[in-house]
Amino acid sequence: MDDSEKPISPQNFPSKLTFYVAICWFLAAFGGLMFGYDIGISGGVTAMDDFQIKFFPKVYERKLHAKEDNYCKYDDQNLQLFTSSLYLAALVSSFAASKACELFGRKPTILIASVFFIAGAALSAAAMDVAMLIVGRILLGVGVGFGNEGVPLFLSEIAPVKHRGAVNILFQLFVTIGILFANLVNFAVSKIHPYGWRISLAIAGAPAAGLFIGSIVISETPTSLVERNKLEQGHKTLKKIRGVDNVDAEFNQIKAACEAAKQAKSPFKELMKKSSFPPLIIGILLQVFQQMTGINAIMFYAPVLFQTVGFKNDGSLLSAVITGVVNVVSTVVSVVAVDKVGRKALLLEACVQMFISQMAIGFILHLNLTATGSLTKVEAGVVVFLVCFFVMGFAWSWGPLGWLIPSETFPVETRAAGFACAVSSNMLFTFIVAQAFLSMMCHLKAYIFFFFAAWIFVMGLFVVFLLPETKGVPIDAMNERVWKKHPVWKKFMD
Ligand code: BGC
Repeated sequence: MDDSEKPISPQNFPSKLTFYVAICWFLAAFGGLMFGYDIGISGGVTAMDDFQIKFFPKVYERKLHAKEDNYCKYDDQNLQLFTSSLYLAALVSSFAASKACELFGRKPTILIASVFFIAGAALSAAAMDVAMLIVGRILLGVGVGFGNEGVPLFLSEIAPVKHRGAVNILFQLFVTIGILFANLVNFAVSKIHPYGWRISLAIAGAPAAGLFIGSIVISETPTSLVERNKLEQGHKTLKKIRGVDNVDAEFNQIKAACEAAKQAKSPFKELMKKSSFPPLIIGILLQVFQQMTGINAIMFYAPVLFQTVGFKNDGSLLSAVITGVVNVVSTVVSVVAVDKVGRKALLLEACVQMFISQMAIGFILHLNLTATGSLTKVEAGVVVFLVCFFVMGFAWSWGPLGWLIPSETFPVETRAAGFACAVSSNMLFTFIVAQAFLSMMCHLKAYIFFFFAAWIFVMGLFVVFLLPETKGVPIDAMNERVWKKHPVWKKFMD
């Protein structure tokens, strides 16, 4: 029986792989690349001598002193602000972005993101002083806030139902490619004196320009059109993106979902109801925990970290490239595994893997890295291996699933608002880790890795006792099949 003979259900609404959908994948690529590039670029740039001499001469001076404390040489609030200001801006703007999505649609939201990205890339690449640098980062952050709300929402609304999970993880895959690309760029330009760092920051304009063109080419999502009462246009668009005429069943479902959403007075008020707590708590905790694994301490500061354990500039950037490759490849594993082995198994296995890595790194540094000494080649090699082992576990579990699960567990009326809460929790904790990591390393020394290990232990308990399995459950059956059946969460349901 071919597709046209099967009874129509949300799992097999008629669709073809159209050119339009291909364009959307292109868009996903540039939205994810943009975010990943911004995550990946700062570590290498802040480790470059030319950059430090220009903006953070005190950090550079401290680094030069032979007797300087290994764990403290980069501790500088301004240096950390360079990295973390982006996330603070993203946190604030993701709420504005959720409003923009609702009022103007997904397309203008993505367009706004790309314009901020371009302005931010230009300003930070041309920066003459720290203020200009930070303003550039803030503009990039607003871009991230708008992009990370608009693009995933856009994607999940245009993806055929049966591909929604894969398309969602695809976004994360391009985030990891963006990080890797940034590491490669940093590696390539680190020899170009004295402005290699300007090239690194300017290249952020390339995926931003891609996103800009993409956002002009695409049309609005059917859901967003229907939500804003443009029914006829919504129907026409749905036909265009599905490549078939027979879209009435899907269109009616979109209409019904939008009607239901209108019944709920305010999505944010709706979120405050007891029955909304389970997906809200799970969505927020997943994002908080995702950051408390210490992933971004590794991602932002990998080159700095590798320098700390005794690699020279080149070696440390190269090690960051290696972790970047591991990150991309392991995310592909997740795309394949997530619907087969399930969410819980992946998350739990990764907890074990990440716990072992953080504890082992902590012990090696604690025993062997004194404040002024350095590791032997073998010890440093083992640390790089352990970092890769850690990134591998993260990349096939908490990385993509931290985003996937909050996007699939909210009912339609609170989906966008609930997702915005998850996005902003992610940004808040990314900000906190980015701002605090170098100072914490200075004070806690190798114990910082035990600190993250302790969080990972708690996360394991969370997965065992509180996280329900959502593999293979249709999005609109979550309440009945997941929350109402869970020993803890059923108490919240009517
Ligand atoms: C996280 C980012 C992280 C990235 C690493 C994402 O899921 O949200 O904070 O840098 O994964 O690949």
